[in-house]
Amino acid sequence: MTAPLLIASDLRAGYGGDDIVNGVSLSVVPGEIFTIIGPNGSGKSTLIKVLAGIVPIRKGAITLFGKDVTAFKAPQRIGEGMAYVPQEFNVFRNMTIAENLKLSTEFLGLRGRAGYLERERVLELFPDIANRQTLLAGNLSGGQRQMLAFACALISSPDILLLDEPSAGLSPKLVIEIFDKVKAVNTLGTTVIMVEQNVAMALPYSDRALVLVNGSVRYQSDAKTLRERGDLHELFLRES
Ligand SMILES: Nc1ncnc2c1ncn2[C@@H]1O[C@H](COP(=O)(O)OP(=O)(O)OP(=O)(O)O)[C@@H](O)[C@H]1O
Ligand SMILES: [Mg+2]
Repeated sequence: MTAPLLIASDLRAGYGGDDIVNGVSLSVVPGEIFTIIGPNGSGKSTLIKVLAGIVPIRKGAITLFGKDVTAFKAPQRIGEGMAYVPQEFNVFRNMTIAENLKLSTEFLGLRGRAGYLERERVLELFPDIANRQTLLAGNLSGGQRQMLAFACALISSPDILLLDEPSAGLSPKLVIEIFDKVKAVNTLGTTVIMVEQNVAMALPYSDRALVLVNGSVRYQSDAKTLRERGDLHELFLRES
């Protein structure tokens, strides 16, 4: 069996007194698309922020390629091969496409020609935004903005990409475009963890899926098994 790329063990995290993430364990193998689904407010975004190093871990551990990264903050996890696209506010709307991408290369210390080459490499995947580089990100359509956020995250050539609701607010046609892009990036060798509300459309693109309810793992299986279960709705509603 392939060794997991990321292992999270008994994660607990929250914002105030209570834990929002209540003892979540999961492991993700290289090359897969691992999808986290669950009702609104169940802690999906919090969980993915814990994996990204944005919300601190109160208990539990995370290893990446066998290395303990539990204490690593988000920038250090980027250095270990992780990238994260938030659910909201994932681009600078008052900056152009080109400026957003440049900021991503500069954050990584890639200046001049090195930065340019990285941007060109990533833009090959996104012709829609490559042709509009002088447009303000705030003037892009929802789908194009999501593509830009995705492109910025790929500048670091991540081994594992964390996406929080990449299809949120998009029309069905654009949802398919975004998922096709996720699949294309995955096929090129990037492992993906994504949070999705769009269950019916996301599962066919996923290898495995986890149902999070009240901050705990309600169910975990390969995506096909979950799709074939008739009680997905009930899985969402039942308290864990
Ligand atoms: N920054 C924060 N400070 C305090 N509480 C928060 C914060 N962010 C989220 N919460 C609370 O944590 C709980 C889980 O929120 P979270 O955003 O993780 O859920 P979610 O499953 O991603 O929901 P959605 O499907 O609506 O995106 C909610 O009760 C929310 O109010
Ligand atoms: Mg969320």
